[in-house]
Amino acid sequence: MPGRYYQTTPIYYVNDAPHLGTAYATICADSLARWHRLAGDETLFVTGTDEHGLKILRAAEQQHKSAAEWAEETSARFVEAWAALGVTNDDFIRTTEERHHRSVQRFMRAIYDNGFLYKGTYEGWYCVSCEAYYAEEDLTGDHLCPVHERPVEWFAEENWFFALSRFADRLLAWYDEHPRAIYPETRRNEALGIIKGGLKDISITRTSIDWGISVPWDPEHVFYVWYDALVNYISAIGYGEDDERFAAWWPSVHHLLGKDIIRFHCVWWPAMCMAAGIDPPGHYLVHGFLLVGGRKMAKTAFNQVDPVALAADVGNDALRYYLMRDFPIGQDGDFTYEGLIERYNADLANNLGNLLARVATVVGSKCGGIGPAPRPASEGSALATAAAAVTAEVVEAWGRFAPHEGLEAVWRLIRAANAELEAVAPWKLEPGPEVDGVLGDALEVLRLVAVMVSPVLPATAEEIWSRLSVGGSPAAPGNAGPDGVLSWGGYGGGVPVTKGSPLFPRRAAE
Ligand code: ME8
Ligand code: MG
Repeated sequence: MPGRYYQTTPIYYVNDAPHLGTAYATICADSLARWHRLAGDETLFVTGTDEHGLKILRAAEQQHKSAAEWAEETSARFVEAWAALGVTNDDFIRTTEERHHRSVQRFMRAIYDNGFLYKGTYEGWYCVSCEAYYAEEDLTGDHLCPVHERPVEWFAEENWFFALSRFADRLLAWYDEHPRAIYPETRRNEALGIIKGGLKDISITRTSIDWGISVPWDPEHVFYVWYDALVNYISAIGYGEDDERFAAWWPSVHHLLGKDIIRFHCVWWPAMCMAAGIDPPGHYLVHGFLLVGGRKMAKTAFNQVDPVALAADVGNDALRYYLMRDFPIGQDGDFTYEGLIERYNADLANNLGNLLARVATVVGSKCGGIGPAPRPASEGSALATAAAAVTAEVVEAWGRFAPHEGLEAVWRLIRAANAELEAVAPWKLEPGPEVDGVLGDALEVLRLVAVMVSPVLPATAEEIWSRLSVGGSPAAPGNAGPDGVLSWGGYGGGVPVTKGSPLFPRRAAE
């Protein structure tokens, strides 16, 4: 049933430009948000940039710029990249914005007033890339950060602590009551493992830098960057300023995040919410890593692929399709250019592109370019039956955050339509009811396919609808909802079918 859907992404550090890994996360979130609009949900999709902290300060110093200048420039590169990749975020939040500062200060004040903050001294091994302390036993054998495999630094400072240790029982009880809060299940076990392994209080302010949000009751300090960043999810919906708006979107949020930041999102953040007196976030979607030659693609690893250049090369829809089809949410996968081209040729050129080209050609030669209507579902045509099963499966797959399965199902329908055309071979027949029937069914399949792929292949979906002369947009809100257009027979026929140039010209594997 239509409802509200609030989708977030991690807000990315502005130490460097976006790469294909951050683009993957953003495209996952974008596809989900697009699906939910299509399903008729009132949808809010927020992404943004994380701009404070030592990591950004050092990146700026290397560029001989002020942190503010560097953050401004790099944040703009994220905005531009997401626009180029067709990302439909409703809002873009920057932690340097005034609205965010106000929220952080209010939220932290609530935690302070509730008695969960105290002053103390901290020392330990710190990874600037993670912006996190590590216990000796968590470091690699070479004494490096386990995530970045880079040297850690010994830090000692007097600062404010959050009494995280007091929340272990409450967190475990909450996860017990919300067994499906973390997807996939393995990541839930990981979060529970962290909590059961024992929670230490965390230092949440810094005096060593001033590139951050100041602590209202102790202005020598700024908030530690993670404590600042996590709050973006509620500053974007008016925490402390617009109670009605906040209540409309919280706590039924879907936080998409990579598996590198589970501790912060699934342990620290819900505890912070509890401490501030609001509900913890309702749902986490933990995705895996895009790897290059088995290693995580990362800003700090110098193995990045520029997503905008790649989209310019293969086409934005093709890139989105490869990412959503071959990298199921939750699993790691190796990115290869060969894999992308293979997927492109097999699914986009040979199947979807071929179906559209073929149908348009034969409608041109046998039906004077006017599309015939499909046969009614009651006549039990094989494609009508297949379409009913596939649409149900697609709705179900997206509903459980498995878009790759939804896409797989759509391609079964596309292959079935191509097979039916080959079996009947209307290009060899005289014009008449048999030719009309098989072409009408294939056109109806194309109409349905356009709607179902629109969250991932938005431009392609529009192009198919336009060539079929179907009015409106395949991506119109509610099209995949209960009163939508996913039932057989929506294509009426009697309108022109345009041949056009190939949607996906075959590409030579390089
Ligand atoms: O952690 N494959 O920001 P970040 C897939 N600012 N996803 C990847 C990836 C890869 N190779 N590399 C990065 C931060 N990501 C904090 C977040 S949120 C309150 C603060 C994605 O720039 C993935 O979603 O390091 C990962 O969790 C996120 O980028 C980390 O981005
Ligand atoms: Mg990172």
